[in-house]
Amino acid sequence: MVFAASQGTATTDAEHRAAIERLRRERNAVILAHYYQEDAIQDIADFIGDSLELSRKAAATDADVIVFCGVHFMAETAKILSPDKTVLIPDLEAGCSLADACPPEPFAAFRAAHPDHIVVSYINCSAAIKAQSDLICTSSNAVDLVRQLPADRPVLFAPDQNLGRWVQQQSGRELTLWPGSCIVHESFSEQALLRLKLEHPDAEVLAHPECLPHLLDLADFIGSTSKLLHRAEQSSATSFIVLTEPGILHQMRLKVPGKTFYEVPGTDGCSCNACPYMRLNTLEKLHRCLETMAPVIELDEDLRQRALLPIQRMLELSR
Ligand code: 13P
Ligand code: SF4
Repeated sequence: MVFAASQGTATTDAEHRAAIERLRRERNAVILAHYYQEDAIQDIADFIGDSLELSRKAAATDADVIVFCGVHFMAETAKILSPDKTVLIPDLEAGCSLADACPPEPFAAFRAAHPDHIVVSYINCSAAIKAQSDLICTSSNAVDLVRQLPADRPVLFAPDQNLGRWVQQQSGRELTLWPGSCIVHESFSEQALLRLKLEHPDAEVLAHPECLPHLLDLADFIGSTSKLLHRAEQSSATSFIVLTEPGILHQMRLKVPGKTFYEVPGTDGCSCNACPYMRLNTLEKLHRCLETMAPVIELDEDLRQRALLPIQRMLELSR
């Protein structure tokens, strides 16, 4: 109850930060954050990474509690990999349009219609989809993993058709695609991108492979969030136009302070380039979840074991 009283009185970011520092020590908790989290969460996290790096961290941690500042499928993956840990997420409603676009029953029918296919699923899906998959991939390793599949077997790829098309192009493998997409990466305005390119002709265009194909065609470099960050560090360019959720710009500006980064707005200038699910997590909710130890990620043990196999295959195959 001491915890409840302290939560009740904390109102400023500084107070939330102080309480989070104290609670994470008391709970032996590790705070993992995706690049799309708000700046204040990235600043207090123990580790920031892309989906692949975060799942590796979740599998390897010796903390008792994992507070996953990201979306539900990411926290669920942490629970699949670390069943003995308590896995918390600041807002249980933090979902993902890709995961929502691929419900288990229609997916089972899709698989049944292609019985000879290897099923590769992007990690942005529910445990129920992972459990029906042969192999999981992330945007960081998808091309490399698909290249390693036996050449004589056809492949199903779900749920992101934009990532799937890009993997198809890069790997030269024909993929049968599930028709899902990310509402954020489909929102970028081509007009605004072309205008930014005209205004900053020397800027490199960095894009996440979930973007629409005609925007990927305008990119100089395509990769996962971590790969985009490394590219910004290593490239000789001094300015960048970034086609992914603008949360990543915080780390880019911190890691490469001498360079300039431009975000691309959504169509009609809307702020739909910010992921509405990722942004449900706040510093205050992070404080509250460490204090109350809720919301907690729970998973049926049989489902967890079936979802674990294709994730383990991914971790073994990805270099
Ligand atoms: P990363 O694989 O780059 O972490 O991307 C995850 C994601 O949700 C992109 O929208
Ligand atoms: Fe899902 Fe898109 Fe948000 Fe990534 S940016 S978590 S794919 S809705």
